[in-house]
Amino acid sequence: MVVPYKHEPFTDFTIDENRKALEDAIKKVEADLGKDYPLVINGERIMTDDKIEVVNPANRKEVIGYVSKANQELAEKAHKVADETFESWRKTTAQFRADVLFRAAAIVRRRKHEFTAHLVKEGGKPWKEADADTAEAIDFMEYYGRQMLRIDEGFDVNSRPIENNRFHYIPLGVGVVISPWNFLFAIMAGTTVAAMVSGNTVLLKPASSTPVIAYKMMEVLEEAGMPKGVVNFIPGSGKEVGDYLVDHPRTRFVSFTGSREVGSRIFERAAKIHDGQQWLKRTIIEMGGKDTIVVDNDSDLELAADAITYSAFGFSGQKCSACSRVVAHEDVYNDLLNRVVEKTKEQVSYADPTKHDTYMGPVIDQGAYDKIMSYIAVGKEEGKLMHGGKGDDSKGWFIEPTIFADLEPDARIMQEEIFGPVVGFTKVKSFDEAIEVANNTEYGLTGAVITNNREHIEQARRDFHVGNLYFNRGCTAAIVGYHPFGGFNMSGTDSKAGGPDYLLHHMQGKTTSEML
Ligand code: NAD
Ligand code: ALA
Repeated sequence: MVVPYKHEPFTDFTIDENRKALEDAIKKVEADLGKDYPLVINGERIMTDDKIEVVNPANRKEVIGYVSKANQELAEKAHKVADETFESWRKTTAQFRADVLFRAAAIVRRRKHEFTAHLVKEGGKPWKEADADTAEAIDFMEYYGRQMLRIDEGFDVNSRPIENNRFHYIPLGVGVVISPWNFLFAIMAGTTVAAMVSGNTVLLKPASSTPVIAYKMMEVLEEAGMPKGVVNFIPGSGKEVGDYLVDHPRTRFVSFTGSREVGSRIFERAAKIHDGQQWLKRTIIEMGGKDTIVVDNDSDLELAADAITYSAFGFSGQKCSACSRVVAHEDVYNDLLNRVVEKTKEQVSYADPTKHDTYMGPVIDQGAYDKIMSYIAVGKEEGKLMHGGKGDDSKGWFIEPTIFADLEPDARIMQEEIFGPVVGFTKVKSFDEAIEVANNTEYGLTGAVITNNREHIEQARRDFHVGNLYFNRGCTAAIVGYHPFGGFNMSGTDSKAGGPDYLLHHMQGKTTSEML
């Protein structure tokens, strides 16, 4: 019997011992930078001449590693291996597969600070955010292992006296897992192990900005007893390798997390049936957000200001769940805005994420920096700049926490995903109008309502159309197994990572009926 699932506790870095442990781990990771990393196909390490240079976003001269890049030929080789390995992997017991995850979780837990230190460097994450990313990766392994054991218990169906009916789930086949850079460990690991523990084989294509952590997870899975060929590591260009794998007739499903633009493209491509294809491909597509915190006239404004500040600027706003719009009742609008501006001035600034008290590190790369700065220029036209607005890309890619006020609900700043430390405020006359404005985006991922009014809580529960809705707290920081995570509308397929039905998206139901 496995012990019941409990989420991994976060590390308290105010304790000297913990602070020292992470400082030591950062030094250890620094001593290990700049190595070459191979592809892994059928357990075999393959070095290619063409490499991805992975740099520290806080200091672009610091190379994290050089990661071999797959081309279509290697992608094809990996696909064949995954297809062949599926025949044996699908026959393994759920217990065997779950045990691989439990052992992998234990390995990561034992080396927790080392992984966290790596995320500080490769992802530019401040300590708190990096520690949460490692904890979430452990959670996914622990949680999905247990979910697989539950699914394996089977589901009740009725039988008449002359028959024995059964209903159970079987795996799908070869899955392509394409992950983003922002939860470089947690989402990459979660989407990979979910596919794998359900009995599928996997082709893992991590984000090109953060592939080194994915290689490190491969090592953990191997150490935990995963047979070769079950997960194959094939970093490479999204366009070249990604399109090839998505189009491949033997690909059975695609699990993608990333932008709306790429997610929609994959959704369309996966729908096309290619020569030799025997199935309709399954897609699990989780995309962006334009997430709103609504602040009611009867509400705790200090709590609201704290919730907005952290949800908007934690990890420089680079979370699909980040608060990028505030919709506030006119009675409290000015007071709330002033509080958020003051709190941001006092508490939030950017700095080197290797220092323990850094609130915000850099944004991930030059492309992100340029995009966010161009949105800040748009914001200056559309609203009133209350704080921030400047950036510095001389060493790494740093942008000030930026607050715009007095925006129209349909302004670009209030409609388009910026994915950076930028938040916009708009004023409404009533709670009804607040919900209308909150729903007025093409996305539907997270949202929060700060209110003391019970009726308004129930109204929002019914009418605020997002996959993850929170009351009297911020809109980020979902915990695996506690807050199943995924969005509506153009935020994706609402497949609810870390939820009780997530693994079923990677499986198909089979009914058997035996005459007695
Ligand atoms: P992205 O869409 O640019 O890239 C995601 C992945 O897709 C990467 O691995 C990339 O290499 C790959 N890719 C790019 N082009 C491809 C193609 N043509 N075919 C196949 N794969 C391709 O996203 P990103 O910048 O890595 O991540 C940020 C985005 O992810 C934001 O929009 C954010 O909101 C979203 N996100 C969503 C969730 C969620 O759960 N809904 C979680 C995290 C991030
Ligand atoms: N799970 C992450 C959050 O809720 C995306 O912030």
